[in-house]
Amino acid sequence: MVRWCVKTGDESSVRYIVIWGWFWLAMIAATVGGGIGLATDAAAQGGMMQQGRAPLPELLPEQLPDPKTEGAGLTVRYCAQCHNLPSPVTHSAEEWREVMSRMDRYMSGHMRPHGMMRIHRPTAEEQEALLQYLQRNALRTFSGPSLPDAGSPGAERYKTVCGRCHAVPDPTLHTAGEWPSVVERMRRNMKVMGKPAIMDAERAEISDYLKRHARQGTE
Ligand code: HEC
Ligand code: HEC
Repeated sequence: MVRWCVKTGDESSVRYIVIWGWFWLAMIAATVGGGIGLATDAAAQGGMMQQGRAPLPELLPEQLPDPKTEGAGLTVRYCAQCHNLPSPVTHSAEEWREVMSRMDRYMSGHMRPHGMMRIHRPTAEEQEALLQYLQRNALRTFSGPSLPDAGSPGAERYKTVCGRCHAVPDPTLHTAGEWPSVVERMRRNMKVMGKPAIMDAERAEISDYLKRHARQGTE
């Protein structure tokens, strides 16, 4: 086919074949590189790098729980290579296992987007220590059969909005006095993490619900 083009001297056909040749080579490379799923992961990673926007709120190493422990050290070493340092309370213990295996896929060599600096990947033992550290300090979620006041508009709103990024937290995690500022921080997290914003009315509804079912006592 190539010879035919050269023979006829049709330059635009040659160019056409050359372009399609590259296209298919790229497709084959992407497939060999681990299939469509991995290509999508790499695209997500590349997109994040290009935008230069961290999909996580800022956190300093000394703000981690037990900052002197091995687990905290590993989190700083490995988990801040591509985005801000993740807080262990970003997920429940159950969720961390799945998130960690997704992050491991990003860290494995195959998916490094072209031109990105070298990524260090934890060893199997380090992975285990990391997972244990994150799970030990994870978000405490609501574990009862149903949320207090289940079915009420406040409970429904709380469940859908506050379960968007992590499992639904236990309302007794904070006192009535503490909840409004936590909700306000989550509003900022939504912005940083590119999630849909909530209206003032929704925020008020959620804060009221949480205040009613909060831990007893003051600050
Ligand atoms: C090679 C780059 C890379 C490294 C290293 C990395 N991540 Fe990520 N992380 C990403 C990308 C890309 C996203 C956004 C896409 C996504 O969420 O799948 C992300 C998103 C996240 C999020 C927000 C999304 C969610 O599911 O809550 C958390 C939390 C997170 N990473 C935790 C970690 C932890 C913990 C580590 C260390 C074990 C880590 N990451 C190491 C690339 C990385
Ligand atoms: C855009 C994603 C996102 C949404 C939506 C979200 N959170 Fe969070 N949440 C986070 C991240 C990230 C962290 C860890 C960093 C931090 O604490 O700010 C977190 C941590 C928490 C914690 C543990 C930290 C603490 O102060 O106790 C609680 C409780 C919490 N969220 C409650 C909520 C509530 C209530 C809502 C609904 C109003 C909500 N979250 C919605 C991202 C989100």
